[in-house]
Amino acid sequence: MDKKIYDHLVIGSGVAGLFFAINIAKSGESVLLVTKRSLWDSNSFNAQGGIASVLNSSIDTYQSHIDDTLNAGAGICHLDAVKLCVENGPRLVNELINLGVDFTHNENGLHLGKEGGHSQRRVAHAGDITGNELIKTLVEAVKKYKNIEILEDRIAVDLITSHCKQSKGKYAMGAYILDKKTGIVNRYVAKNTILATGGTGKVYLYTSNPDVATGDGLAMAYRSGADVANMEFIQFHPTSLYHPQAKSFLISEALRGEGGVLKLKSGKTFMENYHKMKSLAPRDIVAQAIDAEMKKSGDDCVYLDMTHLSKEFLMDRFPNIYEKALSFGIDMAITSIPVVPAAHYTCGGVVVDKNGETSIKHLFAIGEVAFTGLHGANRLASNSLLEGLVYGEMAAKKAVNYFDDYQEFDDTRHWETGNATTSEEAVLVSHAWDEIRRFMWNYVGIVRSNKRLRRAKNRITMVQNEINQYYWKYFITSDLVELRNIATVAELIIDSAISRKESRGFHVMVDYPNKNDNSFKRDTYIRRPII
Ligand code: SIN
Repeated sequence: MDKKIYDHLVIGSGVAGLFFAINIAKSGESVLLVTKRSLWDSNSFNAQGGIASVLNSSIDTYQSHIDDTLNAGAGICHLDAVKLCVENGPRLVNELINLGVDFTHNENGLHLGKEGGHSQRRVAHAGDITGNELIKTLVEAVKKYKNIEILEDRIAVDLITSHCKQSKGKYAMGAYILDKKTGIVNRYVAKNTILATGGTGKVYLYTSNPDVATGDGLAMAYRSGADVANMEFIQFHPTSLYHPQAKSFLISEALRGEGGVLKLKSGKTFMENYHKMKSLAPRDIVAQAIDAEMKKSGDDCVYLDMTHLSKEFLMDRFPNIYEKALSFGIDMAITSIPVVPAAHYTCGGVVVDKNGETSIKHLFAIGEVAFTGLHGANRLASNSLLEGLVYGEMAAKKAVNYFDDYQEFDDTRHWETGNATTSEEAVLVSHAWDEIRRFMWNYVGIVRSNKRLRRAKNRITMVQNEINQYYWKYFITSDLVELRNIATVAELIIDSAISRKESRGFHVMVDYPNKNDNSFKRDTYIRRPII
């Protein structure tokens, strides 16, 4: 294929990417939307909880949502980003309703769920499959636009960038993208490139994320020289289903919002020893409490007790979770659900301004891949779909008709394969993948120490060297691209964690058990050294 120039190249099909595409397509400009599996494979699609927003003004206020977000974020949220998201929430939820999203209602209007760290009921949801309903509606809307071209089964390998001669700054011009079916890498050139590639959960052995969450956009942006921040703040969801076949199925925090209580095997409660909000405390507190209790007792899990609620209520409010648990022999109306924490959300990411533009011009990052400053050291539950919508829209406003006369598309080079050959050693890829995920879980997990982080740093340096040798020798495959990306992300998490010598939010260090506001009430920025 020869190069084709688009106005906008969107990489990723979660809520942020789809909402950007819909908003920009209204202008008539051309959009190429690429996604590495199907349009349905994303963290957004799996979201159970919903969208946090002030939707009942008789019980809730913007200030209350702002305060809850700031409290969860442990002192380092950016107030401007928090206000932007909170204040745009109600309007955007209404826009979704107009697009056709079927949120759950009761006799008083929208039914609002409650989750950890929220002082009010304010989560708009569609049963316990909010992401599914949201993505279904957005995909239908995207498909109505003739100026949006969709390519599935394509994985972006690297960004195409150039230097602007006038300002000496970098700008983005699209991406090299691997067609997973043919193995061919094509270049897709665009006036604006939008990373909407989601999170990084697959860096860890246990995660609530789907297989696609390999930090591709984050790794590509970092390799291209974009600023990245706060990668030490990986959020662990306190409750994923503990069962050998469950593959980290999430047990939504909304269950605790309906009064679910965390217990030990003995039936004893424990959260009262950790926080006044008990089982509904912010996620960092709950995940750390569970980790501590499991270490103390030697048990493999703790339990979430929902038996105070009737079977009818549970089946109506949580149909998907009820069914899934039942398929593993757990009737949650009768027995407690065995749960463990799992890597869930990347609070840091590619640094963006209020329009979602990164430190590389014409490169945008929206949704989980971005660092907007909203989440601080611990994201408040259900603030992420909200952030994806807000910044998807902001980025579209900025990107429309956004073209600079220095943008030189004739300069882009073909993808070169050099002397690469077909690998007969794919086991190297699967081994390195497994090794990274295991040491990240053991050494850079919920509780960290200087010693464990140093070990992780040594390991990642070795594995990175092996991956680099392999990468330049053989034709690339989707697995290799993802492995290279999770290795880059792992290194960013480790380096950021080493540099923060305190405990805050989801960064918990045994060597520095307290917050140190004098030195660390700030973000951790990383930019790739120019070699
Ligand atoms: C959940 O339903 O517990 C997840 C919601 C979120 O991560 O925001």
